[in-house]
Amino acid sequence: MGKDDEPKTYRYNETPVYTTSNGCPVMDPQASQRVGPNGPLLLQDFHLIDLLAHFDRERIPERVVHAKGAGAYGEFEVTDDISDITIVDMLKEVGKKTKLFTRFSTVGGEKGSADSARDPRGFAIKFYTNEGNWDWVFNNTPVFFLRDPSKFPMFIHTQKRNPQTNLKDATMFWDYLSTHHESVHQVMHLFSDRGTPYSYRHMNGYSGHTYKWIKPDGSFNYVQIHLKSDQGNKTFTNEEATRLAAENPDWHTQDLFDAIERGENPSWTCYVQTLSPEQAEKFRWNVFDLTKVWPQAEVPLRRFGKLTLNKNPQNYFAEVEQAAFSPSHMVPGVEPSADPVLQSRLFSYPDTHRHRLGGNYQQIPVNCPLHAFNPFQRDGYMNVHGNYGANPNYPSTFRSLTYKPGQVSQQHEKWAGAIVAEQLPVTADDYVQANGLWLVLGRQPGQQDNFVSNVSGHLAGAHERVRRQTYEMFRRVNPDLGARIQRATEENVNGPQPRL
Ligand code: HEM
Repeated sequence: MGKDDEPKTYRYNETPVYTTSNGCPVMDPQASQRVGPNGPLLLQDFHLIDLLAHFDRERIPERVVHAKGAGAYGEFEVTDDISDITIVDMLKEVGKKTKLFTRFSTVGGEKGSADSARDPRGFAIKFYTNEGNWDWVFNNTPVFFLRDPSKFPMFIHTQKRNPQTNLKDATMFWDYLSTHHESVHQVMHLFSDRGTPYSYRHMNGYSGHTYKWIKPDGSFNYVQIHLKSDQGNKTFTNEEATRLAAENPDWHTQDLFDAIERGENPSWTCYVQTLSPEQAEKFRWNVFDLTKVWPQAEVPLRRFGKLTLNKNPQNYFAEVEQAAFSPSHMVPGVEPSADPVLQSRLFSYPDTHRHRLGGNYQQIPVNCPLHAFNPFQRDGYMNVHGNYGANPNYPSTFRSLTYKPGQVSQQHEKWAGAIVAEQLPVTADDYVQANGLWLVLGRQPGQQDNFVSNVSGHLAGAHERVRRQTYEMFRRVNPDLGARIQRATEENVNGPQPRL
């Protein structure tokens, strides 16, 4: 291929001359062509027509969840040798560095919603590794609201707006939660002050799901990943978060951007928990149940790296809005576990990207691997990186590619059984870790009081029957908790109540 035939690069920065989108210089971008000073407009005015037509198409669908977010570039460095438990190239040796892009987000609100809303926070990272992009699509909470993925769309509907009033709706919100008690552990996180973090820099990240990491001998461990903020954990009270929502709804976005501009690069220390398949089988908790944590006293954290954010994006839409993360973007040495929620997410994210950004979403620079990639995909809308030039679009014997072995672990779980389509029942176990968190809050001054006040302020807006269902749920976590929530909520609704 001669130099002149090479794919074009974008040369928009090279000239100060204003032009149309096809590069034609324009004398006055703010004047439309018309017949005389007050005459009718001319259809031949490509500049005007193109300007308006493009403007009409500026919006793409916002993310159906996690619509509001902020992002930054950075670097991951291996700090401790974990070569005994992983073959992932990025984690191979101490000191190895990998570039990355991170996007933080709230979950339920729209693209313009307040950063300080009570919500879990998304913590998504794309590592541009030598063996492809590896995405960690994590939250700032170690558990989630459900363990059957078919509930996700319905659950999200209840946390968003009422289909009739288009208002946030406390009755819908608590009606779902109080009738799906497997959510209660996550509800305990959400309504503690952890539900209103001080900034994206001051919160942890968790894989939540169990993944599989392949070991050098071909066997595997189940793993969970934790990212601990080196800035420390800091939260807002409900009052502070509510005030900020009015005074500076973009506070988290601004805080992240400004800190990086000042050179105060936020960082997180990365840890992994591991269980062998044999240990997992005997473990007190089902490792495929996303509503449970692996207690750190039983499964210690092992440190392996540091993640630092050091560069702001140049263009929000191009880099942050068009970023497309997926738990299915994996690299050799990593596999999903059988966790059904994770398995569903493997489908859902690339599917929504194809809808939101198009079939060639991986070609958008922020999503494109930094290292060699060579698929047989071709054509499609918005094919912008040369479409692999003259490379064969099938496994050609004239220009053969090599195929790297070792993508799938040698050992794997063996599954057998009848097909079932029943929900996993809620049992007494579902309240144990939630109660554990309630007791942990009790060791931090004021935190139980804040929890009760955070729930009761919100729950007071719900229908009476839903309130009663919710008291019952919290009573099952801890009788004292249930009684306190009932009293505080009814006081909010009806004035002072007798002690129960
Ligand atoms: C975003 C689906 C559970 C973390 C999204 C998006 C969808 C989605 C459709 C929008 C993606 C986009 O437009 O780019 C689901 C489904 C789930 C699920 C179907 C369960 C069945 C979870 C869980 C976590 C999580 C358990 C964390 C452990 C995130 C994050 C984002 C996101 C961080 C934002 C990614 C970004 O910044 O672009 N999810 N989700 N999700 N989800 Fe989930």
